[in-house]
Amino acid sequence: MIEFINVQKTYHNGTTALKKINLKIEQGEFVAVIGLSGAGKSTLIRCINRMHDITDGQLLVDQVDVSKLHGKQIRSFRRRIGMIFQSFNLVNRISVMKNVLVSFVPDLPMWRKLAGIFTSEQKLLALEALDKVGILDKAYIRVDQLSGGQQQRVALARTLAQNPDIILADEPIASLDPVTSKIVMEDFKKINQTMNISVIMNIHHVEIALEYASRIIGVREGEIVFDGAPSEVTQHMLDMIYGNVTEEDNEDEETASPLKVVSGHV
Ligand SMILES: Nc1ncnc2c1ncn2[C@@H]1O[C@H](COP(=O)(O)OP(=O)(O)OP(=O)(O)O)[C@@H](O)[C@H]1O
Ligand SMILES: [Mg+2]
Repeated sequence: MIEFINVQKTYHNGTTALKKINLKIEQGEFVAVIGLSGAGKSTLIRCINRMHDITDGQLLVDQVDVSKLHGKQIRSFRRRIGMIFQSFNLVNRISVMKNVLVSFVPDLPMWRKLAGIFTSEQKLLALEALDKVGILDKAYIRVDQLSGGQQQRVALARTLAQNPDIILADEPIASLDPVTSKIVMEDFKKINQTMNISVIMNIHHVEIALEYASRIIGVREGEIVFDGAPSEVTQHMLDMIYGNVTEEDNEDEETASPLKVVSGHV
């Protein structure tokens, strides 16, 4: 379980990106974080794996206070948490397989890292991960010969090979076309459901978030303004999240109009 208790994040320049966030995410949830650009979505998910340090409150992952981890502990903690980016973060000029095997590098002694020698067990794990995202046939192709969607699936396979409990995804489909986006989202859903891996994803495409996630968190100016099931997301809620109304206007929520505009880019 991931637990935010009064979490605050103020950057060095004085920007407070997260204000008193309280949040519990159970193992196996598929959470989509939505909100305007600058709302604090990336900050929220990047605090979970200590890419950013929180400045107040407590952030617990399976009862461990992540702020208290140091050095080696952070590295082993991070191995339980996969991270997927919009830009895939792959090494272009080497094979798909090597890119997946890289996830094992922290476990290797230096001479092995340099020689690029991996055990047959690791190779099997890498191939299994590629199979899970449907690109086993691409194992020995160079990454720069793949489409964007295929590259994102390699990134997902690399994360899976780590055997994570949690996958954080920061706009994983932002640079993909609509058809490819759905294929990648199907992969995330399958991984979430069959392997019970928690997925916490920032996403600008609200209609896709509603289709695939089991829980939607709306962030606005560093605060959570909506937290509920996709079926509870009304047009009024989207207006709240995307800034057309304020909380004071909230009393006629019951009579809110059904969903019309569901694009995050407003
Ligand atoms: N490294 C940083 N230093 C200072 N301020 C930052 C830093 N990163 C983000 N911010 C600020 O924190 C706030 C939240 O940014 P964040 O990147 O979390 O938003 P976001 O919701 O992910 O936006 P986007 O949809 O554009 O990715 C913004 O005001 C941003 O300018
Ligand atoms: Mg962001």
